[in-house]
Amino acid sequence: MSAAGPEGARVSGEVNIAHVTLIAAAAAMGGFLFGYDSSVINGAVSAIQERFQVSPAVTGLTVAAALLGSAVGAGIAGGLADRVGRIRVMQLAGLLFAVSAIGSALPFTVWDLAVWRVVGGIAIGVASVIAPTYIAEVSPPAYRGRLASLQQLAIVLGIAVSQLVNFALAISAGGSALDPLGPLQAWQWMLGAELVPALIYIGLSLVIPESPRYLARVGRDDQARAILAEIGEGDVEYRLSEIHRALGSEPRSRLKDLRQGSFNLVPIVWIGMALSAFQQLVGINVIFYYSASLWQSVGVQESNSLLLSLFTSVVNIVGTLIAIVLVDRAGRKPLLLTGSAGMAVALAVTAFAFSHARVAGEQADLPFVWALVALTSASTFVLFFALSWGVVTWVLLGEIFPLRIRAAAMAVATATQWIANWLVTVTFPSLRDWSLPGTYVIYTAFAVLSFIFVLRYIRETKGRTLESMRERL
Ligand code: GLC
Repeated sequence: MSAAGPEGARVSGEVNIAHVTLIAAAAAMGGFLFGYDSSVINGAVSAIQERFQVSPAVTGLTVAAALLGSAVGAGIAGGLADRVGRIRVMQLAGLLFAVSAIGSALPFTVWDLAVWRVVGGIAIGVASVIAPTYIAEVSPPAYRGRLASLQQLAIVLGIAVSQLVNFALAISAGGSALDPLGPLQAWQWMLGAELVPALIYIGLSLVIPESPRYLARVGRDDQARAILAEIGEGDVEYRLSEIHRALGSEPRSRLKDLRQGSFNLVPIVWIGMALSAFQQLVGINVIFYYSASLWQSVGVQESNSLLLSLFTSVVNIVGTLIAIVLVDRAGRKPLLLTGSAGMAVALAVTAFAFSHARVAGEQADLPFVWALVALTSASTFVLFFALSWGVVTWVLLGEIFPLRIRAAAMAVATATQWIANWLVTVTFPSLRDWSLPGTYVIYTAFAVLSFIFVLRYIRETKGRTLESMRERL
């Protein structure tokens, strides 16, 4: 790697890519917890409902409340990260995850379970902001996309591992999440098992270095220099002066800095919010939060539906790996466009397949051929999502905002993502009762809109330094 020196000379410095990858992977552990925590509840939810004798509506509210907690966590993480540093915020998130794991495993009533889930939700929100911010800030431009993708890889691994752990716990307890396993029931272990990755996350955040961009922001230039040198950022003095120039005179980004005039937001903030909203409005988490009941509602047996969920997780991992290889080569924009187009076709086919369900009273039944078509198209949808919007949204959110407003803008965009996630999650059960094919037509429409949005508003950021990002892309 080489970097242009202050006098225009090119100074070469070896990027320590193995070291940076380790640092980024440690920070991405927050993503693992994000994936684990948001999907672990699926395996436990019906057991919780039975144990506490509550209605599906109350259970649904408990699940959704955690997502609103995430919006709050995402909203506060940026400001906090500017005040106390990226690393302290990671430690705080780790602590919240740990406390929430213990509390959720040992609740007295469904209400204190809800409170502990909200605490976990806040931690997810915080982790979802801090990991991409930190990774983008420690990565050299040529590798930034790939390193930032580790966040999404960690999320999808977290989702897959939570499903495996749930499955294994239920099986060893005797088949059901309500069965006893030692002093507790299996669902309590499911929620409590998260303590392990939470402790690993806290441990890792004690050893990785603070972000040089945060250190420069608070005037700790010597430490910033040392870390820039450690990760092999070419000409350290030049990089540091570039960071200072990008910071300008404003010491801290606040929400009011995102405004332009009295009502409008800086354009790039709108772009970040729209990216986040589209990532959710195509209905990806219907697959990850509801897939079991989605397949059961068209007549697939429960045990087969669990296997199908596991299969979708594997497809998700494969797509993510493809994206990691491509993101710094093909670039962000071509991946997003390919993803939107592929998702739109796959979602439309899924809607068409679901329209062949024969409804008899409460129960619907999908003829075998159409069930096969639906399964194939739903998996194709997950594949296209994973190799595009899954990864690229997180990469772009970490890099598109100018340093002056980065933390606050990131918070607003990520909170938007959690609110959109919440909206999709709470509306799905009623939409499904209204019309399953109709629901999928709505998701198809959002995929088409996302294509138009990318075409019109997204500019390529591949290979550019973070400091060169402007308030308009
Ligand atoms: C992205 C989304 C998240 C979703 C995941 C699925 O990370 O932000 O909501 O669960 O992809 O892979």
